[in-house]
Amino acid sequence: MLLLKGISLEHSWFYYNLLLLPFHFWYCQAIDGQAGNILQRANRVNENLKKSYLTNGDFHQIKNCLSQHQIVKKLVGFKTNLNHFDHLYGKLYKECTSIYASGSTSSGIYPIWLKERFQFTYVYCDMELVSTKKGWTTIQRRMNGEINFERGWDDYVRGFGNPSSEYWLGLENMYRLSRQITTATVLGMIDIQSPAIGFDLEDWDGMNVFVQYTYFWLESKATNYLLNVRGLSRTFWNYFDTAPIYESEFSTPDKDNDDDNNAHCARDRKSGWWFHSCFEANLNGAYPKYKQKMKWENILWRGWQYINNNGTALRFVSMKLYHTVVEP
Ligand SMILES: *[C@@H]1O[C@H](CO)[C@@H](O)[C@H](O)[C@H]1NC(C)=O
Repeated sequence: MLLLKGISLEHSWFYYNLLLLPFHFWYCQAIDGQAGNILQRANRVNENLKKSYLTNGDFHQIKNCLSQHQIVKKLVGFKTNLNHFDHLYGKLYKECTSIYASGSTSSGIYPIWLKERFQFTYVYCDMELVSTKKGWTTIQRRMNGEINFERGWDDYVRGFGNPSSEYWLGLENMYRLSRQITTATVLGMIDIQSPAIGFDLEDWDGMNVFVQYTYFWLESKATNYLLNVRGLSRTFWNYFDTAPIYESEFSTPDKDNDDDNNAHCARDRKSGWWFHSCFEANLNGAYPKYKQKMKWENILWRGWQYINNNGTALRFVSMKLYHTVVEP
């Protein structure tokens, strides 16, 4: 109890018996409290599992494979090999595609396991999108102007809003989500299977487009979550030669990483985005008023007038990922 700050042991099956305390003490000393942190997360996993969509059978199976001794062993392994956990939590859903495949075919909020972060996050799974691909993991959504998107770097990294309405999943989560699905190659290398990304756009006149890229991934924080998209395909409509999406670093009003040396796009556009030179897309701009025309300072998709020559503002936008899950 003394050593495990902030954890309610009564409710925890991670209870450390006396035999393990000396070890735990050493461990906490050795890595400066990191173990406690990991344990807190592990405890949250437990709580989340109980509440989540997993069946009791699933829950007990996971619980059983994690005896206290194993946990301690795994904690040691954690420092050197995250894949230990991946193995233990192999049964957890890591994206909406496999949730759909498991039979949960209604759209809604589901917990997914971010394996590199060792935690759950809640996302809105779009199971209804008219596409041959079913089960899209929503990473951004605007629908009613309820959430303020004029925010700084820390908020954009961490994420904000509410998966039941408007939200931004956070750059760190998006980065991890873009590298969730890995396969081991013959040579023992890890191959990352980048998800597809879709931009779901609809204006006040009801005109809609789904712009899809075959591959999406973000670089890490070290390169300011540089956006990578490949393989533009156009479903539903055939208007764009290119989409106004640029492979730029992420900028916020308090952090200028855009590609234009003479501008600070994020400050002018009052939001975070992968800005190139301020006039392309910005799905995080201010939410437009009813039936308004599209404006630079609002949610922006350059070239929308080719879709709807009224130039009507976008009232619904959403970014979602589709992971092709390879069955082991
Ligand atoms: C453009 O606006 C006009 C007038 O409000 C409307 O009748 C028309 O349906 C709109 N165009 C589209 C594509 O919705």
